Amino acid sequence: SLDQTGGLTTLPVPSAPAEPRLPRARRYLMCPPEYFEVAYAINPWMDPDVAVDRTEAMRQWQELRAVYERLGHTVEVINPEPGLPDMVFAANSGTVVDGRVLGARFRAPERAAEAEHYRRWFLENGFRDVIMPACTNEAEGDFTWTGSLLLAGTGFRTDPAAHGEAQEALGVPVVSLRLVDPRYYHLDVALFVLAEAGLGRTPLVAYLPSAFSPGSREVLGRLFPDAILASEQDAACLGLNAVSDGRHVVLPTEATGLGAQVAERGFEPVFVDVGELRKSGGGPKCCTMELRS
Ligand code: ARG
Repeated sequence: SLDQTGGLTTLPVPSAPAEPRLPRARRYLMCPPEYFEVAYAINPWMDPDVAVDRTEAMRQWQELRAVYERLGHTVEVINPEPGLPDMVFAANSGTVVDGRVLGARFRAPERAAEAEHYRRWFLENGFRDVIMPACTNEAEGDFTWTGSLLLAGTGFRTDPAAHGEAQEALGVPVVSLRLVDPRYYHLDVALFVLAEAGLGRTPLVAYLPSAFSPGSREVLGRLFPDAILASEQDAACLGLNAVSDGRHVVLPTEATGLGAQVAERGFEPVFVDVGELRKSGGGPKCCTMELRS
């Protein structure tokens, strides 16, 4: 704008984002933890000797589902299967972009059968384009859609060859990232997207730098120079296993620092208790597969 003297007035740079944080209604797939337990250990969070309260896990899951519904999202539910205690972690069984589905192939034999149950769910629920991978692929555990790119983790679970397979199957550009800390064995416990890429807008992500190899850290720095860098403490309660709808960020109650960082950028943190599910190494995002149409 012009001031009295005809010169340009410089407006102060606002600390809060100029753009409003607009939520977009989402469709999620979830699986109730009816048969949830920690019977085997395939990540450092799991200890079969620690008691799990399944009733409490179910209460936490119901609350997570209720939060999504309160925020205006649609939650689809797949029937749990006895003998598949990790089936509650729906994010691991499919990557859906533009209505196209890339199924899963689990690394651990204990989880292998989950992939087929989810494949059947997709087919019975109107998804025509369902591809099952040849390489080990733990779906949204290691694949994160930014709105323009598919970030792809490897190092512990998903085979790096699955990254090329995903690019070919989904027709989206894939960026490989190497995970190096066994506590953050999946990409979705080390990084999440708060706001997807839009017209002329780069996506906003949050991540734990030390969870990535030096080269991958550089890649993240180049792609997302304004990212939120999470603290060790917030990552250690699986705070980065969060779900954003573009405005509301659902994250574990303990992740208070991250909640504040998210609020500083104009988002609304919504805290949920996932203490029982965390005994298996899972948080809100692990329980939530996004069905992107
Ligand atoms: N116990 C499960 C496993 O180790 C937890 C999976 C968590 N899911 C996720 N998307 N990170 O496979």
